[in-house]
Amino acid sequence: MTGFWTQANALFRKNLTFQIRNIKTNVRMILFPVVLCLLLMLLQAAINRQLDTPSNKCGCKCLDGKNVHRQCHKQVCGIEYSDSKQAALCPVYSPPEWPPLLQMPDFRAVRTDFTGRNRSFGEGVAGNMFPNSSDFSSFDGVVLGSATPTATSNFLEPAFISSSPIYYVQSQCRSNSTISIAVPLKSVVLDEHLVFFYAEAKCVQGQNLWRNSDSDIIDDLYVGHNKGNPKKKTNEILKTNEILAGYDFLNSDINNYHVTVWHSAHKDDTGNGPYRIVRVPRLINLVSNAFLQYVVGHSTQMLFDFVKEMPKRETETRTDFSSLLGPLFFTWVILQLFPIVLTALVYEKQQNLRIMMKMHGLGDGPYLMISYGYFLAISMVYMFCFVAFGSAVGLNFFTLNDYSIQFVFYFIYVNLQIALAFLLAALFSNVKTAAVVGYITVFGTGLLGGFFFQPFLQDKSFSRVWIIVMMLYPGFSLYAGLYEFSQYAFYGNYSGADGMQWGDLSDKDNNLAHVLIIMVMEWFVVVFMAYYIDQVVTSGSGVRKSPLFFLKMFKKKSTMSSFRKPSLQRQGSNVNVQLEKPDVVQERERVEQSLAEQDTSHSIVCDNLKKVYPGRDGNPEKFAVRGLSLAISHGECFGMLGPNGAGKTSFINMMIGLIKPSSGTAYIQGLDIRSNMDQIYANMGVCPQNDLLWETLTGREHLLFYGRLKNLKGSALTQAVEESLKSVNLFNGGVADKQAGKYSGGMKRRLSVAISLIGDPKVVYMDEPSTGLDPASRNNLWNVVKRAKQNRAIILTTHSMEEAEHLCDRLGIFVDGSLQCVGNPKELKGRYGGSYVFTMTTSSHHEADVENLVKGLSPNANKIYQISGTQKFEMPKQDIKIADVFRAVENAKSRFTVQAWGLADTTLEDVFIKVAREAQPVDVLS
Ligand SMILES: *[C@@H]1O[C@H](CO)[C@@H](O)[C@H](O)[C@H]1NC(C)=O
Ligand SMILES: *[C@@H]1O[C@H](CO)[C@@H](O)[C@H](O)[C@H]1NC(C)=O
Repeated sequence: MTGFWTQANALFRKNLTFQIRNIKTNVRMILFPVVLCLLLMLLQAAINRQLDTPSNKCGCKCLDGKNVHRQCHKQVCGIEYSDSKQAALCPVYSPPEWPPLLQMPDFRAVRTDFTGRNRSFGEGVAGNMFPNSSDFSSFDGVVLGSATPTATSNFLEPAFISSSPIYYVQSQCRSNSTISIAVPLKSVVLDEHLVFFYAEAKCVQGQNLWRNSDSDIIDDLYVGHNKGNPKKKTNEILKTNEILAGYDFLNSDINNYHVTVWHSAHKDDTGNGPYRIVRVPRLINLVSNAFLQYVVGHSTQMLFDFVKEMPKRETETRTDFSSLLGPLFFTWVILQLFPIVLTALVYEKQQNLRIMMKMHGLGDGPYLMISYGYFLAISMVYMFCFVAFGSAVGLNFFTLNDYSIQFVFYFIYVNLQIALAFLLAALFSNVKTAAVVGYITVFGTGLLGGFFFQPFLQDKSFSRVWIIVMMLYPGFSLYAGLYEFSQYAFYGNYSGADGMQWGDLSDKDNNLAHVLIIMVMEWFVVVFMAYYIDQVVTSGSGVRKSPLFFLKMFKKKSTMSSFRKPSLQRQGSNVNVQLEKPDVVQERERVEQSLAEQDTSHSIVCDNLKKVYPGRDGNPEKFAVRGLSLAISHGECFGMLGPNGAGKTSFINMMIGLIKPSSGTAYIQGLDIRSNMDQIYANMGVCPQNDLLWETLTGREHLLFYGRLKNLKGSALTQAVEESLKSVNLFNGGVADKQAGKYSGGMKRRLSVAISLIGDPKVVYMDEPSTGLDPASRNNLWNVVKRAKQNRAIILTTHSMEEAEHLCDRLGIFVDGSLQCVGNPKELKGRYGGSYVFTMTTSSHHEADVENLVKGLSPNANKIYQISGTQKFEMPKQDIKIADVFRAVENAKSRFTVQAWGLADTTLEDVFIKVAREAQPVDVLS
């Protein structure tokens, strides 16, 4: 048996050649992601162009007085030159400081509700909340508020640019209750002048109302104002609510400060949309300050100077379109590999190429390993092109996320995908079905991912457990992974930060860690299942192993001798023996003797081989082979003749390990076909009835591959291949380097024969090797086989008697599952022929004369044919001497005109027809 690495090497080289031949398909495959990336890039560019207008940028002012948008050479940009929309986009390196505001209800008077365990304490604190002075020198003592809704950031406080008023809350409002305030924007210093926002502030009276419990406060806040109209929505309640906030002092006292604050977010908060700033800090500062004053005294103040946003760079309004569409497109790109792997696997199965390779010694281990590694390599190259191209055209999806995370993710996924293809290949026997199902899966998964699965991913309130359950479908785990990449790329682009880094895997909302874990676990499960099914269910590996095949490893390996005993004990008990012809019985004895003596001169020994197909649907069992015993020695070519349906194919299939014998066995070079098939393959060649060839590989490449499988190397290999090509007449005229798909039927046939003989196998099966060959090629082929048989045992089935006679040392005629006769062609003719055929043509008047002549030669002659003067007779050989016939004919010629005559020996064809007829009263020959 050739080594694992030899086989792996052979298969690898074959696959490589195959792939290079398929360069067009490969280029097309790689172009797909390229086209998609380009498409995304173009769409992105088009959208960016649309968005690239001044209104989508930070506002600017031209200092040389020209048009801002065109030939302005000296321009300044910033918040102060921006409208409210542009301002949000400006870079803010040092954000402005805004006075802290309260979220005001739009009312003339506001109040806070408060409660707690100790009313006198609560009232004491609450009484300090709103100031009473009119000292407006700093904002610290002024409680400002606004009803203007907040934004998502606080670079620009909307209260100061909106038309709605700013309020200040006092415990008492004077008659002259409007003050002017100026907010200095210290960060925006232009021409050494401070920029101020000026605003008018109206006084609002603030009151505090003690409530007995927190539920009273909740009633006031949410329900109390709604009593008259229960259908009012919450936000409308807040709109009409005059309550600024609710405080629960809980168990606070002088030594203990513990407060709960209820507040309204802002007026139009519907619960959707981006998060907005909430004006709570001032509420907390108010109560803390009041507590401090209550405890320490009025001179003490807890100042709250300003609120300030974090610095930011200029925001781009570019939508990162590619990142948003990415998951759907890229799911397609990556899934596209799945049908490719699947169809390649099913192709080798459908074309029986895997069996063919196995029959020439390729073990399952190297096959699975190399195929897997090969698909993995292709997938990785594909993914590399995809990521490299995507990065080259600058898609954020690729450039922002950490490449090592992307590599790990894609690597794990393509592994899982290949393993799945191996598993699913077991379900398909047809390439087209596999392709259709594969591509439907690709597109279906992408669409389902985009329109069904993604909404669940986006819904942060949706149960993570169900997300994980859905991600058990590998397509969705792929989608989820790509979705995470796209989200990180999108927000990375938006905020100017990086995309996903390894540290981000622990983010609460990041599913990628789950995805990776699920995919790795699935990979292990799928690989195990795929291997198991490959060994048990699929016929891809020839003989199906029992579902518990792996337990066999613990059993002792069966040897040839352990199977001998039963066959010896069986002697005499076989009732068939009496019915068999003497030559067949003799062959059976030869087999038994050979087994008993452990004789090694026989390359092939079939010991009472039987195959019974179980009855199905009420039909009786079918006996395909009924106890075949045969011994074929080294250097012998055994011809197997028989009508169609006689069981020849079942016999050959058992011998080459495609089906298991029902009982009996055969030994090839002493190895049992039931247990040692893997070793037998290394020494076996098969020329199947249908040519099993790769359409795109050349004849030479086929032979190189099978030669390598048979452990040929280097110059020995080249030489063997060349000789082999020459011997089957495929060497000249560049035929050897033409693709097998372009060969004629005869050329394919000759290549198949050459394949079966390469690597000097000791046993060769040829199933009708010369069918479809022209006479010249056939002669050529016969010479090849004749030369080949010197060194090996050959079993050959054929329908050509000429071929059988020419090539075979012995023949067996096989009818209805059993051998009817065995012997060399001459013996058979002698035994079964035993008569001459005499033909004579005269005018129709002399027919009676001819008949008399024949009767005179042999009284037992038998007329088998007569038409218009031509008659045919069968004459037993023992009755006549050929010289007598000539004499009689000369004699007859003198009496009447003999137009033609002939005497023929029986042909093998006659023997065949006779044997077949005798064995089978039902005419199966027609
Ligand atoms: C309630 O608070 C007041 C003022 O702080 C204090 O004097 C009084 O002891 C407190 N009552 C209780 C029951 O703690
Ligand atoms: C506020 O000022 C008014 C008049 O000056 C005074 O009557 C009232 O007690 C003061 N309230 C507080 C809480 O200082």
